[in-house]
Amino acid sequence: MDMSRRTVIAAATAAGLTAAAGVGTAHASPGGRPAKELFGRLADGTKVHRWSLENGGTRLKVLSYGGVVQSLEIPDRHGRYRNVVLGFAGLDDYVAKSPYFGALIGRYGNRIAKGRFTLDGTTHQLSVNDGVNSLHGGAQGFDKRVWDVAGFTSGTDVGLVLRYTSADGEMGYPGTLRAKVTYTLNRHGDWRIDYEATTDRATVVNLTSHVYWNLAGEGSGSIYDHELEIAAARYTPVDTGLIPTGELARVTGTPFDFRRTKTVGEDIRVGHQQLLYGQGIDHNWVLDKGISARPEHIATLRDPSSGRTLRISTTEPGLQFYSGNFLDGTLLGTGGHIYRQGDALCLETQHFPDSPNHPSFPSTVLRPGRTYRTSTVHSFGP
Ligand code: GLA
Repeated sequence: MDMSRRTVIAAATAAGLTAAAGVGTAHASPGGRPAKELFGRLADGTKVHRWSLENGGTRLKVLSYGGVVQSLEIPDRHGRYRNVVLGFAGLDDYVAKSPYFGALIGRYGNRIAKGRFTLDGTTHQLSVNDGVNSLHGGAQGFDKRVWDVAGFTSGTDVGLVLRYTSADGEMGYPGTLRAKVTYTLNRHGDWRIDYEATTDRATVVNLTSHVYWNLAGEGSGSIYDHELEIAAARYTPVDTGLIPTGELARVTGTPFDFRRTKTVGEDIRVGHQQLLYGQGIDHNWVLDKGISARPEHIATLRDPSSGRTLRISTTEPGLQFYSGNFLDGTLLGTGGHIYRQGDALCLETQHFPDSPNHPSFPSTVLRPGRTYRTSTVHSFGP
């Protein structure tokens, strides 16, 4: 966070603008221990909690169900807070009809063709839940599991550790996968996600976060005016089922060129075959930096009306940019508004879709004795 943002937050606090949320909700004090409250119960009685944490001007509400970020509030250039992620007010909607709002995705972010892959000579059949393909880990992915959550403070950081153990064979994946995800808010208000996993049998893994961003505020309309920059000269074109063809195509001269900042809406109606397949943008960008040991900057999203800006850094080689194409006016969001096509976008840092069937893509194989580790940082500013 730069000085101007600090000043804005200080001014907003003095003006009482940081007073938040309804009666009966748990509040975490800035930089203090995360607070926990009961959010609801699943049909079998399992309790789902909601955690609240705040630091450096960013406020986060996280559910133990799916590790869902239900709300993420940041100030605009005048210090006015809005929740900038799509979600639901209650647990039932998350269970019944969520298009992965705010959720942790596993074991495998995005699609695996025909839900099938071969590893070390054995073919594995996964749960198929998107036509003939497997999407986001199958019918009961990590987004539909109740995670073990613990709050922590460490120095000036505040955070949550979320754990989920996926049994050998769950959704067709081999190996017992122990996943640990850490959400950290630092004193600058950056939201960092650290993913870790281990296995007892060779398997594939590709964890990500499926937050739907609208920096003007959820329910405020479309994101076509948001400005976006992505540091990638290539993307992975797909077939009609949104499975990569294997080609790493150049973005030059296509609607997929975001190397120079442009609005999301600028080229979204261009008559390009790939946009017809995705009903808009639903593609993986091949990040120029490749896999990196530390998170490196890959994308900036800015809403000119509010001035809110999101900067993303990651260790991952890919970014799935999805322009909210399947939002169709049938979901009622957190703040009481209906979500329509293009009302948010997702920027999912990841390995490439269907990597297990593309030996030329960076590998998603995890073997016993190794630890899967990736990190993504979201920084905010006016
Ligand atoms: C990802 C996929 C999309 C869609 C959304 C959720 O971004 O690539 O095709 O499934 O998740 O609707």
